[in-house]
Amino acid sequence: MYFINGERILFYSDKLKFIDGEYVAGEPLTSIWDDILSNNLHNEGGVEFPKGKKPEALIKRCFDLATKPGDIVLDSFAGSGTTGAVAHKMGRRWIMIELGEHCHTHVVPRLQNVIDGEDQGGISKAMNWQGGGGFRYYSLAPSLLQQDSYGQWVINKEYNAEMLAQALCKLEGFTYAPSDQHYWMHGSSTESDFIYVTTQTLNAEQLQALSDEVGEGRSLLVCCGAFRGAAERFPNLTLKKIPKMVLQKCEWGHDDYSLKVENLPKAPTHPSPLPAGEGVEKSKGDKNANPAQAGLFAGDEQ
Ligand SMILES: C[S@@+](CC[C@H](N)C(=O)[O-])C[C@H]1O[C@@H](n2cnc3c(N)ncnc32)[C@H](O)[C@@H]1O
Repeated sequence: MYFINGERILFYSDKLKFIDGEYVAGEPLTSIWDDILSNNLHNEGGVEFPKGKKPEALIKRCFDLATKPGDIVLDSFAGSGTTGAVAHKMGRRWIMIELGEHCHTHVVPRLQNVIDGEDQGGISKAMNWQGGGGFRYYSLAPSLLQQDSYGQWVINKEYNAEMLAQALCKLEGFTYAPSDQHYWMHGSSTESDFIYVTTQTLNAEQLQALSDEVGEGRSLLVCCGAFRGAAERFPNLTLKKIPKMVLQKCEWGHDDYSLKVENLPKAPTHPSPLPAGEGVEKSKGDKNANPAQAGLFAGDEQ
């Protein structure tokens, strides 16, 4: 080390690094990154999020280090949506989860601007971001089951008959499509296999009437509160009790809740329009949209 008058002398040649074919001045990266503070942080993404927002450049550095294009990035605390915005601009797929109203007020508008190419802040210039891609926006329904004051599992009071039928269709792999003609046709899995959802207790007479209506060439999954009579008397009916059948689908006390993503239903080729205010499906520039993104989730948005 060389010193003059108490000052250390460093040689410029020692600071040069050979990067991408040329010598540039540089220091090895330390664990303190003070080179990427954003002067314009409060404006990034066009949304305000005091004390919670991270600079896009900071998140970009993390993704540069830890991910490659096409990877899926998860942020279960979306906040102002920085993670998704940066992942999107860098060609990564993303999943964000948010508990608060930020979904409607911050995340969705921000990502819409990213997709439309209107967000030119943050890392947009560095990525030459022009827009493209898309996302799906789902709101989580309330829990289907809850325990009553005796500790018994019952259907959540927030569920009306329609919501219950929709939920059980999803759980049992049926497409929800209630029929105008048959009260018992709430959905189908094939042209001849149907599902009926009711909280009633069905007696033997009612089951016989159902079985007669369903007839020989069709089958019906009956999800009901309870039933009386011998189930095997009706070969075209499969009988299940609602709280029990849902509980059987739940996993309790596991250390490993591995999500079998490959078993989720495929996204529709031509998705139907979403009800206003319930969900958003945005896309622009199909060349940029990643088809694998659509494969994660499918079906309706609730
Ligand atoms: C500090 S902010 C995240 C900031 C964000 N990564 C960004 O850079 O903009 C934390 C967010 O997590 C949300 N949150 C807290 N608990 C949650 C939970 N259990 N599930 C989902 N979101 C949650 C809060 O509402 C808040 O918006």
